[in-house]
Amino acid sequence: MKKLGVAVVGTGQWGKNHARVYKELPSANLIAVCDVNQERAQAMAKQYGVKAYSESAEMLKDKQIEAVNVCTWSTILAQEAMKALNAGKHVLVEKPMATNPEQARKLVQTAQENGLHLTVGFLMRFIPGLQQIRQSVEDKKIGDLVCATAKRVSWWPERIGDVGVVKDTAIHDIDVMRFISGEQPSSVYAKMGSKRIKVFEDYAQIMLTYADGKSAFIESNWLTPYKTRTLTVTGSEAIMRLDYITQELLIEQQTETLQPRTAFQEPLKLELQHFIDCIVEKKKPIVTGQDGVEALEVATAAMESSAKNTAVQLKK
Ligand SMILES: NC(=O)c1ccc[n+]([C@@H]2O[C@H](COP(=O)([O-])OP(=O)(O)OC[C@H]3O[C@@H](n4cnc5c(N)ncnc54)[C@H](O)[C@@H]3O)[C@@H](O)[C@H]2O)c1
Repeated sequence: MKKLGVAVVGTGQWGKNHARVYKELPSANLIAVCDVNQERAQAMAKQYGVKAYSESAEMLKDKQIEAVNVCTWSTILAQEAMKALNAGKHVLVEKPMATNPEQARKLVQTAQENGLHLTVGFLMRFIPGLQQIRQSVEDKKIGDLVCATAKRVSWWPERIGDVGVVKDTAIHDIDVMRFISGEQPSSVYAKMGSKRIKVFEDYAQIMLTYADGKSAFIESNWLTPYKTRTLTVTGSEAIMRLDYITQELLIEQQTETLQPRTAFQEPLKLELQHFIDCIVEKKKPIVTGQDGVEALEVATAAMESSAKNTAVQLKK
């Protein structure tokens, strides 16, 4: 089997997992890791027997590297993703992809012009229970989709210092709402603020409304002393509840409650395997670059809505 040559830029808390998973996947050949923190890059390179770089431009000259995962600080993601695309590499860029939709659109355009794969780290889409919810909505197994409520709260992960809770955390649920509804909301209303971190918002409540009357509500914060990550989807015939942490799914109907059992799977492993498969088989990824652009449009509209204290309409 041909192994795809891959590299990871940014070897912090999350990049570490990307590198580990690539080492575990038989279809991947981890060639190099890169971090501006030279010691960190070298320690990981030694652990996995790969090359270490502290400057991605140098690493990207290596022709063996066909795909690059960008896991730097959130405000640097677009810059590093663009470098990799311009060097002719396929790219998986972590969420939030860029600091604004304009930057994200440029990445999509560059990938298209160079015939490269570009995907965004919306990990939730790889959790089997969420895929089942999406399928049930599409097949109308829960009747008409009426509303969805997401809660993603925890204590502030102190290493995050360059974006607030909307672009770091709520963006997952913004994407989830787009994934299960299959469309962009028509309007966004949000309230957010800062209680503990002064430079960025550390709590946000976001309401999305859709042209046909359905709605979604997202609660995100870094103020809760325990971690909750849940989704409740209400249809006209049934309710589906997913716990992202345990991956448990519950389907509540009028006469019975079902609890389908699926083996726990590491979403990152599924995500990276899918990324490789899409490159090798030239197929469309579950998460496109355009999904990243549209999630950022909603996140930006939420921030504008809160600042102006009014609902913001999204352009068609
Ligand atoms: N999809 C998910 O579920 C998920 C989960 C966690 C984090 N993330 C994303 O992953 C990214 C990294 O998060 P983290 O928690 O690992 O942060 P982190 O601060 O632990 O690590 C970031 C690393 O990037 C390095 N870096 C910064 N600029 C660089 C550059 N130009 N070139 C090379 N290295 C550079 C830093 O030195 C650091 O080691 C963030 O964008 C975050 O949103 C996604």
